[in-house]
Amino acid sequence: MQDTYMMVKPEAFAAGHVAAILALAVDNGFELVRVRSLGMDQELAEKFYAVHRERPFFGDLVKYMTSGPVCGFHLRRDDAVSRMRELVGATDPVDATAGTVRFRFGTSIQENAVHASDSPENAQLELGIIFG
Ligand code: CMP
Repeated sequence: MQDTYMMVKPEAFAAGHVAAILALAVDNGFELVRVRSLGMDQELAEKFYAVHRERPFFGDLVKYMTSGPVCGFHLRRDDAVSRMRELVGATDPVDATAGTVRFRFGTSIQENAVHASDSPENAQLELGIIFG
């Protein structure tokens, strides 16, 4: 079994998609271990996305992620990280395969509905940041 972190971003939270997104994860074999809804402040968003600090979109990303509540899920199944990335789909919703979370709920490359860990190591880091 492997752990991963998935987070519903502000625009999807505001649109009422938290329950539908969690249901997709559970229907795809993920066990819900922990859930936390929170408002990220600037310090937390910068820490969470520190890997993107040098990217041109970093400032906008932090502004967006602090614009409203998010909902974080600690999820578990076999091969959880890659299975979740498949379920979530491509970063830009226009490139996402039909049936994926971002195809259904994402609205732009930034407002792409959810975040999902990209490696088991980053999953542990992100779970530590969000759940302590
Ligand atoms: P996420 O998977 O959470 O990781 C970094 C986030 O930055 C990404 O989803 C998007 O929300 C946001 N982002 C904005 N612009 C870009 C871009 N050009 N490339 C990648 N990510 C971007």
